[in-house]
Amino acid sequence: MELVIDRITKQFKNKIAVDHVSLKLKEGVYGLLGANGAGKTTLMRMMCGLMVPDSGTIALDGISMEEEQYRDVLGYLPQDFGYYPDFTALEFLMYMASLKGIPKIRAKEKTAMLLEQVNLKDVAKKKIKTYSGGMKQRLGIAQALLNNPNLLVLDEPTAGLDPKERVKFRNMISELGKDRIVLLSTHIVSDVEYIADYIMVMKKGTIIHKGAREDILKSIDGKVWECVVPEKTALDLERKFPVINIRNEKEGIFLRLVCEHMPYETASICTASLEDLYLYYFSDEISEGEGQP
Ligand SMILES: Nc1ncnc2c1ncn2[C@@H]1O[C@H](COP(=O)(O)OP(=O)(O)OP(=O)(O)O)[C@@H](O)[C@H]1O
Ligand SMILES: [Mg+2]
Repeated sequence: MELVIDRITKQFKNKIAVDHVSLKLKEGVYGLLGANGAGKTTLMRMMCGLMVPDSGTIALDGISMEEEQYRDVLGYLPQDFGYYPDFTALEFLMYMASLKGIPKIRAKEKTAMLLEQVNLKDVAKKKIKTYSGGMKQRLGIAQALLNNPNLLVLDEPTAGLDPKERVKFRNMISELGKDRIVLLSTHIVSDVEYIADYIMVMKKGTIIHKGAREDILKSIDGKVWECVVPEKTALDLERKFPVINIRNEKEGIFLRLVCEHMPYETASICTASLEDLYLYYFSDEISEGEGQP
């Protein structure tokens, strides 16, 4: 199975949301990591045939996304999925199955199986409005799996989950990625760090890095440093370099930062993490948009 995205582009007025993105995905879990506005949702909506690209093509095993056959093997969880609060999970899945044209008997079997798979069997007859964020997200995945898709696209599926729900969610996703292509977007580094086999970092409409986790980390290998410095030096370093971590210590200010060369004479080099990479590439946006912590 291979999904080929070839120079896909989408522009809104004078804003290029997705800029000539090309990707090849095979079975496995792919994490699309990017800050707000990077273009993740736009890319995913085009992959799901919900938005027409300005140019470029998308095909799964040679079948274009414009063809019905492509949509038949696609499952999608939108970022802003609308649940019906007064439906139960069971009613909701049966309803979604009817929209997807699945015959009733088949839908009943499939719904029962999915409720079990996403661990909602015990609450299947409770109204969705009584569910936690994690339960709703798992129900969202269940509806995306109704047609047993080869390509599963999940837009920010971990948003709003507490740490415990997050762990359950991760386990479920890894299982799903065994025999299909799973693509999930997030801006939470730790969510993709341990479940995605491959990571794609998206910034301003383009994929700036992609590859297996260990491979993409190579780009900042040897550039992550830790040091304890006087306050004045800390301020100076903070201005010049992306700082990943900062705290007060007895001997001075502890800094973890990304820098091409040794930033301070007692600095020691450390193993780069995905979080370091993310902060390095998005530090300009974080300081512009959200204010540096
Ligand atoms: N329908 C639209 N009309 C105009 N501009 C849009 C539209 N959809 C998206 N954009 C713009 O395109 C850019 C990419 O948006 P997109 O929603 O794809 O980003 P994202 O990575 O999903 O962000 P987030 O993390 O906030 O969900 C943004 O600048 C956004 O304002
Ligand atoms: Mg989005």
